[in-house]
Amino acid sequence: MNILKSVEEMKLWANEVHAQSHKLALVPTMGFLHAGHLSLVREAQERCTRVVVSIFVNPAQFAPGEDLATYPHDINGDVQKLRDMGVDAVFMPTTDIIYPKGFDTFISPDKLGDELCGASRPIHFKGVCTVVAILFRVTQCDSAIFGQKDYQQLQIIKRMNQDLHLGVDVIGMPIIRENDGLAMSSRNAYLSESERLQALCLSQSLEWAQRRVRDGETDIETLTNGIKQQIQAHPLATIDYVRLVDAQSLEAVENLQAPILCALAVHLGKTRLIDNRVLTPL
Ligand code: PAF
Repeated sequence: MNILKSVEEMKLWANEVHAQSHKLALVPTMGFLHAGHLSLVREAQERCTRVVVSIFVNPAQFAPGEDLATYPHDINGDVQKLRDMGVDAVFMPTTDIIYPKGFDTFISPDKLGDELCGASRPIHFKGVCTVVAILFRVTQCDSAIFGQKDYQQLQIIKRMNQDLHLGVDVIGMPIIRENDGLAMSSRNAYLSESERLQALCLSQSLEWAQRRVRDGETDIETLTNGIKQQIQAHPLATIDYVRLVDAQSLEAVENLQAPILCALAVHLGKTRLIDNRVLTPL
C-alpha cells in the first residue's frame, strides 16, 4: 500500500493510476476508522479499480472550543486496517501541507449550510467544503464516497461538486450501526458507559418516529415534539436540534407528504452526536 504524504506524491501516484486507465475512488476520512468507514472503502473498491483513503483531521472545520485537540486517532491501526482491505494508497498530509503559510481561499455553502449542524457549527461546512475541494483536486479522484450519517455534509458536497463543476461522482452510503442501533462514529469513543447507554435515544427516537409515520402520523409538530420527549426522558441527553426537513433542499416542511429527513444532534455530556433517518409515509 502506498503511503502518500505530500501533494506532489499524491498527484504523481494519481497520474500513474490514470495513465494505466484505472478509475480512482477517494474515501475522505479523519481517521480512527471504524466499520462505517470500512463500508465506504468496500463500496469504493466495488466502483473503481484503484482506491485512495485520505486521513486528515481538518482544523478548518472545528471551531475554537470544539474537539480538534482531542479528536481520537490511531494512525497505525488505521493503516493496518486499510492494508488488510487491500487499499491501494493512503493520503495522509499534515496541516501545513493542506494549509500552507499564506493560505487564504475558502469555499462556503450558502443556504444548504445555514440550518441543522450549520446553525450550531457556523464555520463547519466552510472548512468541510474547502478541504473536500482540495482533496478532490489533489487526488484527482473519479468517485468519492461519503457516509449518510453526515447527511447535510453529503448534500452540501453534492451541491458544491455540481456548482463548481468538479466532475466527481459523489456517492452517499447508508449509516452503519452498532448491534443496538447507535450510529457508528469516531466520537462514540468519548462516551462514558452511562452516556453510551443513553446515546441510544437518538436511534430509538428515530425508529419511534418512523413507526408513527407508518401508523399514519403526518403532522410535523407532533412528530418533532414526540422525538424531543423521547430524548428528554434521558437525563444525560441535551438536544441541540431535532428537525424534519425536505430530504433534498433541507428546507422546513409543513406536512409529511414526500420522504423527509429527520435529523438530530444531541449532546451526551460533552459529546455531540448526530443521527438521521429518511421517514417515508405509507
Ligand atoms: O466526514 C468527515 O470525516 C469529514 O468531514 C471529511 C469529509 C473527511 C472532511 O474533513
